[in-house]
Amino acid sequence: MEDHIRFDRQNLALHLLDQRLLPEQETEVICRNTDDIVSALQTMVVRGAPAIGVTAAWGCALALNETSGPGWATQLEELLDRIANARPTAVNLRWAVERMRKCWWKVINSGSGDRDPLLAAFLDEAARMQAEDVEACKTLGRFGADCLKDGDTVLTHCNAGALATAGYGTALGVIRGAVEQGKRIKVIADETRPFLQGARLTAWELHKDNIPVTVACDNACALLMSKGLVQSVVVGADRIAANGDAANKIGTYGVALLAKHFNIPFYVAAPLSTIDPTTSDGSGIPIEQRPEREVTHVGDTRLTPEDVPVYNFAFDVTPAELITGIITEKGVLQPPYGLAIWAALNEASAAPEADDAGIIER
Ligand code: MRU
Repeated sequence: MEDHIRFDRQNLALHLLDQRLLPEQETEVICRNTDDIVSALQTMVVRGAPAIGVTAAWGCALALNETSGPGWATQLEELLDRIANARPTAVNLRWAVERMRKCWWKVINSGSGDRDPLLAAFLDEAARMQAEDVEACKTLGRFGADCLKDGDTVLTHCNAGALATAGYGTALGVIRGAVEQGKRIKVIADETRPFLQGARLTAWELHKDNIPVTVACDNACALLMSKGLVQSVVVGADRIAANGDAANKIGTYGVALLAKHFNIPFYVAAPLSTIDPTTSDGSGIPIEQRPEREVTHVGDTRLTPEDVPVYNFAFDVTPAELITGIITEKGVLQPPYGLAIWAALNEASAAPEADDAGIIER
């Protein structure tokens, strides 16, 4: 599935499959300006680190299109900042906006200060980023597939699938890669309270692809592992610090601790765009707190007593020492992650796509 983020270049509109309504309804939300993009990101019409990065890239083009007059460049700066800050934890938002700024700088350096060539360049760059993300997922999926054995049951948390990326997925990309190698893989999808990305989205995607999936309550994890029902854990990430500490959906840290206890390998799968070498360790990763209502209600039904406060931290950070391997499009990174991450980013910056100065596209 690669059409859940679809840009209509003729009408300058971004069509997003509304992930809030899955699996019941397949409806699109159409974004035409920065307000629409920021709202889609914050209300989680689209979610998942790489998917929001690609959405942000298209959003930069829409932002440019809504600027006007002699002050358009200042207006654009402000709109890009709004997009970059729409959600705090996933670094892919900032990464995408920085890449568009770099594109802007290249257009200026090529001698053009006008909006029209910049809009064309932004649209081309966003399309490139979308295509690159699918390729990165397929490549890391092939690397990660070698970590799984025929007959394994893999537990995953949240949705790190096609929906969470431009297509194919990270954690689910690894599972898809193993299935494509002919391995018989079964999946346990944690339901992932409170937004239920596992129950609604992971189950929906895998079921559509005929990959056997069973949904389990988040709090069943210890029991399932103690019964020998899980051979491996693969999750995605929203931001990986320079030392390998990895932020992912709330509950991931607990799964990693349990995996350690039961001696089950715990892998994090993510493209290099999710690595933030400017954050030295997990303590520097900002954790998004989302509206209380996601915890207090299911649909229109209140679950908790009125006036009782709730915590709704959307992410937690799994320390690097609990991670067996970080699966990227440059291979499966092994501890010590500081060096492995540095080497992977360096290798990427030496690749032909990098600019003349060898600066990594991030
Ligand atoms: O709040 P969400 O749904 O955007 O959180 C998503 C996750 O935590 C995913 O596991 C992560 O972004 C990896 S997506 C390939």
